Amino acid sequence: MKVIVTKNTEELAEQALQVMLDVVKNKPNAVIGLATGSSPVGLYKKMIEDCKNNGTSYANIKSVNLDEYVGLGIESDQSYVYFMNDNLFKGIDIKQENTNLPNGKAADMAKECERYTALLNSMPQDIQLLGIGANGHIGFNEPNTPFNSTTHIVELEEGTRRDNARFFASLDEVPTHAITMGISNIMNAKKILVVANGANKAKAVYQMIKGEVSENCPASILQKHNDVVVVVDEAAYSLCK
Ligand code: F6R
Repeated sequence: MKVIVTKNTEELAEQALQVMLDVVKNKPNAVIGLATGSSPVGLYKKMIEDCKNNGTSYANIKSVNLDEYVGLGIESDQSYVYFMNDNLFKGIDIKQENTNLPNGKAADMAKECERYTALLNSMPQDIQLLGIGANGHIGFNEPNTPFNSTTHIVELEEGTRRDNARFFASLDEVPTHAITMGISNIMNAKKILVVANGANKAKAVYQMIKGEVSENCPASILQKHNDVVVVVDEAAYSLCK
C-alpha cells in the first residue's frame, strides 16, 4: 500500500489526479471505477479542468460506479447517477453509453445485482476509486460484509444514513437500502485509489492501513491488494503516525 499524506484537500485532489491520469493516459480505453460522496469531488473538478486545458480525452474510456440508492434514479438530484452527471460526466468527453451505474430503480433488484456483477466481470476496472466511510465501509459494503461478496443489496447502517443526511432535506428522506458492488468486485480492480480527508475518517484510515484484516472493517481487505494508493490529508492520517 502506497500512502501519500497531503497538507490540504487541494493537494489531495492534485495527487489523486496524477494517479488517475497515469491510468487514463497510458490506456485510452481503460475502465475506470468511480465513487460518489464528498471525497472525490475535488478530483473530479481537476479531471474536468485537465480535460479542458490539456485535452486529456475520455472518448474511449468506460466507467463503472460503486453504488446507488435503492429507489432513486436520474430524476432525483440525490441519486448517484445524477451526482456523476453533475460532478463529472457533463464536464468531460466521456460517452454517456460508456458510463455504468447499478440501477436503483430496477424492477427486479436480484436480477440487477446479477447483471451488474456480470458487467464487472466482462470489463474489470483498470483503476477503482474509493472513498471510505467513517465505519470503514467501501462502496456501501458495511462492516461484516463477507470479503467474497459480489453486487448485492445492503441495508444502510444508521450512522451511514446520518453521515449522508447532509445531502438530503431530512434524515427520513435518506434511503434505507442501496445496491453496491461487492468487496470481491472491488478487489478485482487492477489498481485501487483511496481518497480520504478529515478527522472523522482517522479511525477508519488507521484500520485500513494498520489494523487487523477483518470483515469488521471492510477497507482493511485493501492490505491484501497488490496495487493500492491511498491519498489522505493530515487529519485523516493523524492516528497512523
Ligand atoms: C460512494 C461510496 C461510499 C463513500 C463513503 C465516503 O460511492 O461508495 O463508500 O465513498 O461513504 O463518503 P464521503 O466521501 O461523502 O465522506
